[in-house]
Amino acid sequence: MCGIVGILGEHEVAPIILDALKRLEYRGYDSAGIATLHEGTLGRRRATGKLINLSDLLVEDPIRGKSGIGHTRWATHGAATVVNAHPHRTARVAVVHNGIIENFRALRQGLEEKGAVFETETDTETVAHLTEMGLRDGKTPLDAVKETLAQLEGAFALCFLFEGEEDLMIAARRGSPLAIGYGTGEMYVGSDALALAPLTHRISYLEEGDFAVLSRTSVQVYDADGAPVEREIRYVQAENSFAEKGNHKHFMAKEMHEQPSVMAYALNNYTTPDGLKVEISGVDLDFTRYDRVTMVACGTAYLAAHVAKYWFEQVARLPVEIEVASEFRYREPPIAPRTLAVFISQSGETADTLAALRYCRDKAETILSIINVPTSTIARESDHALPIFAGVEIGVASTKAFTCQLTVLAAVTLLAARQRGEIDSDREAELLAQLGTVPGAMVDALALEPQISSICWDLSKASDILFLGRGAMYPLALEGALKLKEISYIHAEGYASGELKHGPIALIDETVPVVVMAPTDALFEKSVSNMQEVMARGGKVLLISDAEGLASASDGIWKSLRMPKVDPFVAPILYALPAQLLAYHTATTKGTDVDQPRNLAKSVTVE
Ligand code: F6R
Repeated sequence: MCGIVGILGEHEVAPIILDALKRLEYRGYDSAGIATLHEGTLGRRRATGKLINLSDLLVEDPIRGKSGIGHTRWATHGAATVVNAHPHRTARVAVVHNGIIENFRALRQGLEEKGAVFETETDTETVAHLTEMGLRDGKTPLDAVKETLAQLEGAFALCFLFEGEEDLMIAARRGSPLAIGYGTGEMYVGSDALALAPLTHRISYLEEGDFAVLSRTSVQVYDADGAPVEREIRYVQAENSFAEKGNHKHFMAKEMHEQPSVMAYALNNYTTPDGLKVEISGVDLDFTRYDRVTMVACGTAYLAAHVAKYWFEQVARLPVEIEVASEFRYREPPIAPRTLAVFISQSGETADTLAALRYCRDKAETILSIINVPTSTIARESDHALPIFAGVEIGVASTKAFTCQLTVLAAVTLLAARQRGEIDSDREAELLAQLGTVPGAMVDALALEPQISSICWDLSKASDILFLGRGAMYPLALEGALKLKEISYIHAEGYASGELKHGPIALIDETVPVVVMAPTDALFEKSVSNMQEVMARGGKVLLISDAEGLASASDGIWKSLRMPKVDPFVAPILYALPAQLLAYHTATTKGTDVDQPRNLAKSVTVE
């Protein structure tokens, strides 16, 4: 979380930094700020809330300079106030930071004892004071930064600007990602290539422990030991679809509606041209080498793993453990030989998922990641990285990335099943054909939007909502609840339908809507029984099923949504859409900020 940008430019940088921050706002929107150097003097402007507030401030109170750093904040230490907003500064140093300085309290105490006066509650201000102390002791900016870095514990990406040093910027990376952009007579620093997309396509990524000294015409990178190193400069054509929501009111709406096309595209990328066989070009995955799979991820990506567990175990007969990364990384689980470790992440930068990957590095047989950003740290640190081809996802609530993650996981399931002799080529072609029907069925599901919107009028008045599902629809119930919570702020829980009577059924009364996700499959009758148990206690059921399911089980239900009939194997992908649409329309009915819900950020780069 938190977005960083730095520019040593040829033009006034404030508007350019502001524009780059717009592309980083998905990383946090508690406050934003900018510091520049003009005629050798540091200046700074900061504002709380969305970037637009900083933009307004810069109109009222412009700031000049051709060197500058900027930041969008997701608050960790200290409330979202102007004082706590980055950049933080002392007399001669301004710094922006993404991450957490874990030993900042001890460092702060030491600095205060030496006379430093702190203005903020943040961990970052410590970094500015440490560097300032070094400068006061007569050190060069580089030596002062080196000495500072040596004292820091935790994860960080930092970018420094120094009073009187118009042609100098220092950037450092430990734990949090940082990219260097190469221009002509200009140099850039950004949390990701996307921030720098309109400025340059020539990007290098700092590695763990690296720091870099930038001027307008040169970049020197040093590794963690302080030795000069070369980092590959790549041509990165980061997609820049930020400006456009198309005809949609929100990015989330646009991204939900993109699902038929991006899913078809993703599937296409993992099949032979005749569509009969899974083909993962350039990746040599051999599932006969693995006895088990461990899948690790966070949030919605974890729920994609949860669906995949059902697929892998049922279709490929391969045991799968699924783990939320924040628990996995500290539990230090033994990793059996012949384990395939799979890490799923839209951003490819989630701190816990990355740490889990590093834990598995020398233990698992193979590290496979499923990512949306091919240049991300998780992709770069994997043996194989499979892109999901969802395109840039801006809405904080993940939608198209989820369905594309599922698509890739379904393809990998079929590959595993074929290689392990669990399915023959006819069955593979048949299941691929079923996957091929989903984009069309998604179009039909999206057409339910007006009906969903009217149901959401009632849902928006509820204070608690339950989602139920069985089998591979259980993770979908969890996803429906997660999506609803995060953007509508209504309390929601997902349960395995059969688990309801072991406790949660006590919650049921006429004020608690219960969303039952039940396509007609082998478990349908069992889901119906659980639904009856809810209705017998006065519960209001919204049944999401196909025509056949609704025909047999509609008696006594409150509302229904008629989904297209698809093969049970692919139903979890399709049923993501009503889950998303219910959350979206409930949120818009309530008037919440759908694309940037409170307290959240798109890329969670702190643990
Ligand atoms: C929920 C959501 C989050 C992310 C999670 C992991 O809608 O978007 O739960 O899925 O933060 O993020 P990535 O996939 O970037 O690792």
